[in-house]
Amino acid sequence: MFEGKSIILGVTGSISAYKAVEIASKLTQGGIEVDVVMTASATEFVTPLSFQSITHRPVHTDMFSPVTDFDIEHVALAERADVIVIAPATANTIARLALGLADDLLSCTVLSTSAPVILAPAMDVGMYQNQVTQENLERLRSRGYTVVGPAYGRLASGLEGLGRLAEVGEILAVIHQVLGRGGDLSGKRLVISAGGTQEPIDPVRYIGNYSSGKMGYALAEAARNRGAKVTLITAPTAISPPPGVEVIQVQTALQMRQAVIDKAAGADALIMAAAVADYRPQATAGQKIKRKPEKLSIELIKTPDILGEIAGDLIKVGFAAESEEVVENATRKLKEKGLDFIVANDITGADSGFSVDTNRVIIIDRIGKVDRLPLMLKSEVAQKILDKLAVRLAGGSSV
Ligand code: CTP
Repeated sequence: MFEGKSIILGVTGSISAYKAVEIASKLTQGGIEVDVVMTASATEFVTPLSFQSITHRPVHTDMFSPVTDFDIEHVALAERADVIVIAPATANTIARLALGLADDLLSCTVLSTSAPVILAPAMDVGMYQNQVTQENLERLRSRGYTVVGPAYGRLASGLEGLGRLAEVGEILAVIHQVLGRGGDLSGKRLVISAGGTQEPIDPVRYIGNYSSGKMGYALAEAARNRGAKVTLITAPTAISPPPGVEVIQVQTALQMRQAVIDKAAGADALIMAAAVADYRPQATAGQKIKRKPEKLSIELIKTPDILGEIAGDLIKVGFAAESEEVVENATRKLKEKGLDFIVANDITGADSGFSVDTNRVIIIDRIGKVDRLPLMLKSEVAQKILDKLAVRLAGGSSV
């Protein structure tokens, strides 16, 4: 979704500089044009050729290089960039930026740009905690720089503490978030539920379902990248929630209901991608149920219909996982629950629905328009759903 965007990746002299190669690779794979600018000390850790091979673009190391595409290289780079990210950013580079020094290509570029700047510090714990570094970071933050990390862990010195470069996934998430500012969902508050609820039977057992959470998480990530403020209310899953969204962990349908009620107040839209249990054990045994009787019955009672209950001035989007009469069943749910549109899928196909990375969905809107989408990655389905949500948020009646 960020195809054609332009990023300057500044790399400075830290042992973690090799991780910047992965950042460059992931951004390039996403269709982003990456111009790498290395400080002299960075080239002691990784070679410019590593980056050049990944980005298929010249790597910039020298202010005074006569072989260049641009007349004044740092100005040209600074003007073109949508974002500048410096990862890893050493204490030295941070100090130089805080002071506004311009004694190499990277610092000149940062000083000339009006693009947002992201810093991912990496250094030894003592250097990071030093008051000077903290003050420099604070000064840069107050000028609008975004700082991601550092993370806690084992450092090159052998010490343990804060100072490791943040995880590549986290740095990429922040880059996407910054690129997404001003996207079609910016300023919108979205509540998205995901995962399958677990209804406890006794201290060791529960009633659950096969939901993996992948669809809801893909929606949360895509909405974040389009500028929305996202709250992800998630039942237990085996996957990590996307960084940069508010995450509320719940287990049961009743807990999910409470979290949705709390967060839906004032939200612009609610997307219920969670597989909420329709029934829960009437009572949860305090002790583990023993393997004694020949037969065991567990009395189940209905859980509240969360999506059906939520009222107010917000767009409501539901999912319908169906094994038969997909359009008919989904349309009934759309009406009963008062939805703006519903995303239905036939869970009988091996390539669609629970656990897999792909989905084949049918989207039905309030006025009965039926849009059958081909098999797609869940991340692509998420974009389609958000396209329709954006239309509804803009006042369109049919999506
Ligand atoms: N849903 C909900 N609360 C429930 C059950 C479902 O909010 N207690 C939401 C789901 O998150 C989904 C939509 O309602 O967005 C449809 O869920 P589904 O389980 O397909 O529908 P049900 O109303 O439970 O109908 P049935 O199980 O009979 O097919």
